[in-house]
Amino acid sequence: MSDASQNLASCCAGLYELPIVEQLLGESFHPGGIKLTRRLADASLVSPKSAVLDVACGNGSSARLIAAEFGATVTGCDYSALNLQRATDAAQAAGLSDKTQFLRASAVQLPFAPESFDVSLCECSLCLFESMDTALQQLHFVLKPGGRIGFSDFFLNAPVPDSLNGLLGKVLCVANAPSAEGYREALSRAGFEFIRIRSVNWTLTDMIQRIKRQLKLLATTSALANAGLPTDFGDPAQTLADLESFIATGGAGYLIATARRP
Ligand SMILES: C[S@@+](CC[C@H](N)C(=O)[O-])C[C@H]1O[C@@H](n2cnc3c(N)ncnc32)[C@H](O)[C@@H]1O
Repeated sequence: MSDASQNLASCCAGLYELPIVEQLLGESFHPGGIKLTRRLADASLVSPKSAVLDVACGNGSSARLIAAEFGATVTGCDYSALNLQRATDAAQAAGLSDKTQFLRASAVQLPFAPESFDVSLCECSLCLFESMDTALQQLHFVLKPGGRIGFSDFFLNAPVPDSLNGLLGKVLCVANAPSAEGYREALSRAGFEFIRIRSVNWTLTDMIQRIKRQLKLLATTSALANAGLPTDFGDPAQTLADLESFIATGGAGYLIATARRP
């Protein structure tokens, strides 16, 4: 990993460790929450026999859902040691230790043998990585032939406005997002077939409304000022308003994509 990429991964991992993130977003750090995770797992044909890899698993909420509801065995990896510890503790508390394991790894350098998994998932994170092509190649490499990839992420229909093009825009997965067609081409380049992409823009409305409500609540306390957010992030409420109008004018949307390793 280059120094700049390592810095972005560390900064992003550090940000997603802050308690304020869970307050704003809820337990799942992606639009659509566990409802969308369920849909993604369904679309990726996860079954009780599946060995699933969840790359950039955050606090492990999706891994727990997939283990508990689909009966699959789930390996989660992330760059944040703290979130991995939270994921391990929560899985243990939920009685899911035998179905889940969590380990620290970068998405662009996965420490797994080839053909280890039936399904590889990645939620709201592909646009964060140093190279989406490398991450997709890695996800392809660890899949068994016939295995499926499933991911959800932002897509762009227009260039992002300057206000969303900084560090906050990057860690929100918006700034570096490609178009829906860009994802299709990237999946193809990585060797996937039977690519299916569906827009799930409803998830963004829900997420923005939730964050607005939470920001209003937090504004009555000193929680936001003391949250430990980097100072160059600017005003989160303003960034959210800019994101909302960018989405409303059709500049960005959210999608799920599935494909198969031949
Ligand atoms: C938006 S959160 C999504 C977390 C989880 N997938 C979810 O939906 O709840 C992004 C996650 O990517 C992780 N991350 C960032 N860069 C990474 C990298 N290069 N390799 C692995 N994880 C990374 C962060 O630590 C964070 O947990």
